[in-house]
Amino acid sequence: MADEYGNTLSGASILVIDDEVGMRHFLTKILEPRVKRVEQAASPKEASERLDETHFDLVILDNIMPGGTGLDWITEQRRKGFFADTILITAYADLETAIAALRVGVSDFVLKPFRANQILGAVARTLDRKYLRRDNALLRRELYHSADNSQLLGKSAALTDIRGMLAKLAPLPTPILFTGPSGTGKELAARHLHHISDRADQPFVAVNCATLSPDRIAQELFGRVEADGRLIPGLFLLADGGTLFLDEVAQLPDQLQAALLRVLEEQRVRPIGGEREIPLNLRLLFATNADLPDKVARGQFRADLYHRINIVNIAMPPLMGRPEDVVELAALFMSRFSLSLGMPALDLDQETLLKLGRHDWPGNVRELKNLIERSVILGEFPEEFAGSGTVTGAQAIENLDLVMQRHILHVLDQCDGNRAEAARRLGVSRKTIDRKMAVWDA
Ligand SMILES: Nc1ncnc2c1ncn2[C@@H]1O[C@H](COP(=O)(O)OP(=O)(O)OP(=O)(O)O)[C@@H](O)[C@H]1O
Ligand SMILES: [Mg+2]
Repeated sequence: MADEYGNTLSGASILVIDDEVGMRHFLTKILEPRVKRVEQAASPKEASERLDETHFDLVILDNIMPGGTGLDWITEQRRKGFFADTILITAYADLETAIAALRVGVSDFVLKPFRANQILGAVARTLDRKYLRRDNALLRRELYHSADNSQLLGKSAALTDIRGMLAKLAPLPTPILFTGPSGTGKELAARHLHHISDRADQPFVAVNCATLSPDRIAQELFGRVEADGRLIPGLFLLADGGTLFLDEVAQLPDQLQAALLRVLEEQRVRPIGGEREIPLNLRLLFATNADLPDKVARGQFRADLYHRINIVNIAMPPLMGRPEDVVELAALFMSRFSLSLGMPALDLDQETLLKLGRHDWPGNVRELKNLIERSVILGEFPEEFAGSGTVTGAQAIENLDLVMQRHILHVLDQCDGNRAEAARRLGVSRKTIDRKMAVWDA
């Protein structure tokens, strides 16, 4: 039955335990149309028998019964390993009973006599909490397992350096600014840093400053104290203990830039409409693909905030010029997508790899990832990347050296053989090029 209690009730199985037949019938009558199953027990002993036979999500339990109190019964059941949520109904609400009920973990307490909507409200609240707990546990588990997807891959010198920097920075509280063109892995690098830090089992929260209106961002970040004194926590508080990633920070409206600077300097946050500042323990990471120094020069971004977030800058390199990473990422995305889509992987033969390695990837890693996904779905590479051989993922990696060689020679050509310039364009050291050339010449 769809009513104000929503769908929470519809899947639930409930056991009603009360010695009074009238009360059992009343509860059964109001619950039966709304839940999956209601059963009754007239005594603690009968209740134990019912529990041995089948599972219940929720127990509604009378306290005073001839065969022993409900609280004694639930205490004994807990010892035996029964942990379903319990609502206690009683006509005698003394403090002692209430405290005893709290101790055995009763979820709610309803005074007799009660109206139908009071008990339905208590049942819905209890089940809501139960499902929230469950979802929360499952989501945490899923997040934990998706940690795989926060791996920052790439064997190129540029990416190896970046991973080294991140490993050094991980244990520190210092803010970090990730810069670089779109799709180069700024957000991924931030997630990677969080995962290798000692905050890994705390929240990682990403906020995109460009997608929210100024009012919404303020409320979203700082939270708000309602007229009745209730605190609606913002993301600063929800992420407390963990990492907050502020993406597209260049788009942060002016008055929020000042507020953010305060948070960074004081590690405290004052919710909108609140009087007290709440202390925080938060790692703040930032990303932008805008030219922040230029924005500062034009007066569009506060200089003081810029200096505060730019203590450490990690510049994510474009994918162009990292053909070895193109190959590694292409092989990885290929196996990931073929697995998750349940479709065969395509051959990454030498010709295809060469073409992928030479492409200029204006959309960087995101573009490569999308290309591989689309190709797996369509069962072939687009014309411009198609090859004719039949080489598979593992062999592809072996071809890597060849791809690199051609790419480096190609860039060298463009720089009229100037190795220093080619090294700069490729994002590698001059020494790397010298070493490779020596090997190839041999
Ligand atoms: N080094 C890498 N290893 C594995 N996957 C990567 C790597 N770099 C980027 N990706 C993947 O490429 C996609 C784009 O990365 P991400 O969202 O981090 O880029 P971005 O720099 O934040 O881009 P934008 O500026 O557009 O927001 C993501 O799916 C990410 O997982
Ligand atoms: Mg991003």
